[in-house]
Amino acid sequence: MKIFTTKESLTKYLEDLRNNGKSIGFVPTMGALHQGHLSLLAQSQQQTDLSVCSIFVNPTQFNDPRDLEKYPRPIESDIKKLEQAGCDVLFNPEVSEMYAGNEQWHLDLGELEHLLEGKFRPGHYQGVTQVVFKLFNIVKPDMAFFGQKDYQQFMVIQKMVDLLHLPVKLVMCPILRETDGLAMSSRNIHLSPDDRQHALILSKTLNWLKQNFNADEIASLSKHCEDMIKAEADIQLEYFEIANGETLHNADQKSKQIVALVAAKVGKTRLIDNMIIRS
Ligand code: PAF
Repeated sequence: MKIFTTKESLTKYLEDLRNNGKSIGFVPTMGALHQGHLSLLAQSQQQTDLSVCSIFVNPTQFNDPRDLEKYPRPIESDIKKLEQAGCDVLFNPEVSEMYAGNEQWHLDLGELEHLLEGKFRPGHYQGVTQVVFKLFNIVKPDMAFFGQKDYQQFMVIQKMVDLLHLPVKLVMCPILRETDGLAMSSRNIHLSPDDRQHALILSKTLNWLKQNFNADEIASLSKHCEDMIKAEADIQLEYFEIANGETLHNADQKSKQIVALVAAKVGKTRLIDNMIIRS
């Protein structure tokens, strides 16, 4: 695997390959890689000639400095995992390589920016689009692979791609779960054994909803799900929404696509999860 830390060297390397007709797949990450990330890489390897992965903990998308500070950064083991998985290229820049001083960025993301995650993490999606725009400009991928786990993030990035007419196809890859149902996440390493047990209520609730969706009205299903989560010890529910999968507004029975999304603090760790209820 080739490792680059500067924009210039990576751009140059990829330019030659692109000129030789190779298609480029891109998997942007913040590291602390798990099977979920590696499944994005596997998709990229299946669908493109050359797979580039980036590891960059992007400071502009953290609204809580403590969260940024404690974000896991196990770079050596990440490199090993990527090498074992046959990744072609890793881009692992320093913050100073990506941001030159005090930059301004604002993209009109409309309501998507303020719903759900946006309400609890103001500015988060501006930071995400800012860095993904930069990364897309450096890598110039034909396809980019993102996890369904960050469903709203996928929608936001698709919106940026549409607004700015970026020539990249986005692919949403399914959530990977531990055998007990917990959605894989880099943040799971912060869960104590007790937290880990309590966290299972999130996927249990989403599964319950999927199985019972046709049995009741959306409002009462939603209330039931909230009650299930609130009844669990050491969990602080931030939101549970049964949303229209195309807009993220509240779903109704006529919505063509429906997704249920949840965010909660489990002990001190904030987790998100979701499930597609109707596609
Ligand atoms: O999903 C993530 O890990 C990050 O938000 C991303 C897309 C790599 C941007 O920093």
